[in-house]
Amino acid sequence: TDTGCLSIIVLGASGDLAKKKTFPALFHLHCQGFIQSHNVHIFGYARSKMSDNDLRDRIHGYLTPCKGFEKTHKENLSKFLQLIKYISGPYDVDEGFVSLDKEICAYEMSKDTTGGPSRRLFYFALPPSVYPSVSKMIKSFCMTKSDVGGWTRIIVEKPFGRDLESAEELSTQIGQLFNESQIYRIDHYLGKELVQNLLVLRFGNRLFLPLWNYANIASVQIVFKEDFGTEGRGGYFDQYGIIRDILQNHLLQVLCLVAMEKPVSLNPEHIRDEKLKVLESMLPIIDEEVVIGQYEGYKDDSTIPKDSNTPTFATVVLRIHNERWDGVPFILKAGKSLNSKEAEIRVQFKDVPGDIFNASKKVGRNELVIRLQPSEAIYMKLTVKEPGLEMKTIQSELDLSYRQRYEDVVIPEAYERLILDTIHGDQQHFVRRDELKAAWEIFTPLLHKIDRKEIRSVSYKPGSRGPIEADKLAEMVGYVQTHGYRWKAPTLS
Ligand code: BG6
Repeated sequence: TDTGCLSIIVLGASGDLAKKKTFPALFHLHCQGFIQSHNVHIFGYARSKMSDNDLRDRIHGYLTPCKGFEKTHKENLSKFLQLIKYISGPYDVDEGFVSLDKEICAYEMSKDTTGGPSRRLFYFALPPSVYPSVSKMIKSFCMTKSDVGGWTRIIVEKPFGRDLESAEELSTQIGQLFNESQIYRIDHYLGKELVQNLLVLRFGNRLFLPLWNYANIASVQIVFKEDFGTEGRGGYFDQYGIIRDILQNHLLQVLCLVAMEKPVSLNPEHIRDEKLKVLESMLPIIDEEVVIGQYEGYKDDSTIPKDSNTPTFATVVLRIHNERWDGVPFILKAGKSLNSKEAEIRVQFKDVPGDIFNASKKVGRNELVIRLQPSEAIYMKLTVKEPGLEMKTIQSELDLSYRQRYEDVVIPEAYERLILDTIHGDQQHFVRRDELKAAWEIFTPLLHKIDRKEIRSVSYKPGSRGPIEADKLAEMVGYVQTHGYRWKAPTLS
């Protein structure tokens, strides 16, 4: 399925997601030689009336130089912009999609292309409310006309509904029109380098095999922090909140990869089968193991109701009821407007039994930290002898910092990688329908309680660590914070 004419259709081409993520990712793929004029064309589709050039002008400023290709940036940029054509039309009226189909067919027939089967990739940079009507229009008018070797695929992105019921309704509507193999549900955390490394790290190293279980691991924390608020997205964000925005998808997907059993093979279905089992083994969340917060000043935004209870911060403890993880708290924590911007996984090991140094208590426990961003790294906090004449213990680390170790390697952006996967037909890093359902099952009861204000957001200071109650909860379930130790991101000389 890798040959033929490829049309990439960006629906919602004039919107924010398209400008900030989709087109820049396509541009970088173009620079790296993946999207070239002889076999790929890009169509922007949206309601606004404008010309091809208007769209090009609109996105131009967002197409930053691709790392490693700075020298040919100008040339690449003008070539890339020439690949884009714009078609305007509504999302629920036949005519728009009939004319879109005409344009795609005209491109597929043109002599400038290499010909071959027609491959059509529809990127939904759209609000989910129009997913059903747009899917119907594509199905009626815009499917590939090739019987052999051609395909039609759609890329959709969260929010997939607001709770279990609405998500299932959306899945059913789309599922009646497309097969699961045609639907690519993006969770861009699955496109991050260190998230993709989890599989290799866990199953390619003997070292971790005997340790990766309840007998040795005291807790797992998966943390997402941003040092800015909802800037400009207040209206959207208030409808969803941090649990729907980050925990239910990004952090839960990472959790699955940390906790799952070894898949039978690298086949995407085998991997997704194992992730699903983790989700299905989850115990119900209990109120005592939840802290939600809202930063002071959040409601100053005029688009946010003054009595909003929407959390901008949440710590939620999840528990997996299986043989490997019985009793181990998985602490998911995410917040906006905090003291730093980072995402990381912290696997904390239990105290050393019969510890003759009393080190676990005095200097801290072993902790494997997988730093997803920024300054990607994997480091293991260890107890060592403090260098010098005295016999004193200190905490240090074995450190694999990517910037230092892979100095000349450019780490690809998540969206670039994921779009390329959809072109190649690889669904490993996309969320399957049953995974999505199981993820909503876990969070829906809690979300409904928050929506009904039965659980209230406590306020916290912007630029802080978040509510102090959250640190207390982590401590209560067994996380031991190390004091006086700080990992330093390496600087290159
Ligand atoms: C998005 C959320 O999915 O992820 C945003 O909607 C968040 O609220 C963003 O800022 C974070 O992505 P990244 O890749 O910058 O960690």
